[in-house]
Amino acid sequence: MARALDLITFSVTVALSAYLGPVLLSHLISKDVIHHHLTNFNLSFLPTPLQSLLQSPQTTDKTCPKHTYTTHLISLDPLLIYIPNFVSQSESQSLIDLSTPLLEPSPIVSRGADSAGSQARTSWSAPLPSDSHLVNCILSRSSSFLGTLLSPGRDEMGPAQVVRYTDSQKFDLHTDWFSRPRITDEDRETGRRRLYNRVATFFVVLQSNVTEGSGETWFPKVRPITPQAGEGDEVWREHEDGGLAFRPVPGNAIFWVNLLANGTGDARTAHAGLPVKGGIKTGMNIWPRVFFGPDA
Ligand SMILES: *[C@@H]1O[C@H](CO)[C@@H](O)[C@H](O)[C@H]1NC(C)=O
Ligand SMILES: *[C@@H]1O[C@H](CO)[C@@H](O)[C@H](O)[C@H]1NC(C)=O
Ligand SMILES: *[C@@H]1O[C@H](CO)[C@@H](O)[C@H](O)[C@H]1NC(C)=O
Repeated sequence: MARALDLITFSVTVALSAYLGPVLLSHLISKDVIHHHLTNFNLSFLPTPLQSLLQSPQTTDKTCPKHTYTTHLISLDPLLIYIPNFVSQSESQSLIDLSTPLLEPSPIVSRGADSAGSQARTSWSAPLPSDSHLVNCILSRSSSFLGTLLSPGRDEMGPAQVVRYTDSQKFDLHTDWFSRPRITDEDRETGRRRLYNRVATFFVVLQSNVTEGSGETWFPKVRPITPQAGEGDEVWREHEDGGLAFRPVPGNAIFWVNLLANGTGDARTAHAGLPVKGGIKTGMNIWPRVFFGPDA
C-alpha cells in the first residue's frame, strides 16, 4: 500500500514538474530562446496549453527589426539606387534556410506563360512563404522604401522570390516588366479583371562566394550620374560592353524602377545575371505590383 502511494506521489511529482518546469523556465528565459530550441521538436506529446505557450513567440512577436541600410543614387533616369545593408546577416541566413528546401529550376516568362528549363535562365528559384514573419518584415521594409510609388489599398508588394545561381548558371539579358500587363490568379476566380505590372525591382544579395569577377548583375543601358564618380568602392564598375556591372555583395540590394510614368516598360532597365564561375550566389527578388484598368 505504502509502495503504491509512493508510486502515485512519484508519478504526480514527475507529471507536475514536467508541466511546471517549462512554465517556470519560460518566465526566467526569453520565450524566443525556448522557441529557438524547440522548433525542431514535435511538441504534440505535451498538453495543449503548454504547446501553445512554447509556440507563442512565433505568433505573438510582431515587431520587425529596425533597418540599418544606407542609399546611393547611381542613376536618375532610369532610377537606380544601390542599398548597402538592406538585410542583416541573420536575416539572410534565415531566408536561405526558409527557401533552400523549396528551390526548383527557375521559370522564365515567354509569350505570357511561365516555362521552366530555358537555356536563357539556368538558375534555381522558389517563392518565399507569404505567412513568414521575417518575409513580411522585409516586404514592409521595401514598402516603406517605395514611399508614394504604390497606391495604398490598390497596389501590392507581390510575392518575394529567392533565386540561386551555382557554377556556370546565369540569366541572359531581360527586363522584369511584362510587355503586356498580367492578370492576377485570384482575380481569374472572382472574375474581377485586375491587371498589373512590376513597377520596380529590389534584387537583394543574400549570399555570395562566387569567383572574383563573375556573377555580376549587368545593366548595359544604365550609366552613372557622373561618369567619373569612381567605381563605388569597387561594388560596381563600368562594363567593357557598356553600362554598369554590380558585384554580388551579401546584404546589399540594387533597386530600380521598371516602368515609365505612363505605365510602359522601360527598355533601359534590361539586365543580366552574368555566369557564376565557381561558388554560389543567392538573391531575393521583390517585384512590387501596380494595378491598371477600370477594375484596379
Ligand atoms: C507529431 O506527433 C504526432 C503524434 O505522435 C503526429 O500525429 C504528428 O504527425 C507529428 N507531427 C509532425 C510534424 O511530425
Ligand atoms: C510612354 O512614354 C514613352 C516615353 O515618353 C513613349 O515612348 C511611349 O510611346 C509611351 N507609351 C504610351 C502607351 O503612351
Ligand atoms: C560557397 O558556399 C557554399 C555554401 O555555403 C559552400 O557549399 C561552397 O563550398 C562554397 N564554395 C566556395 C568555392 O567557396
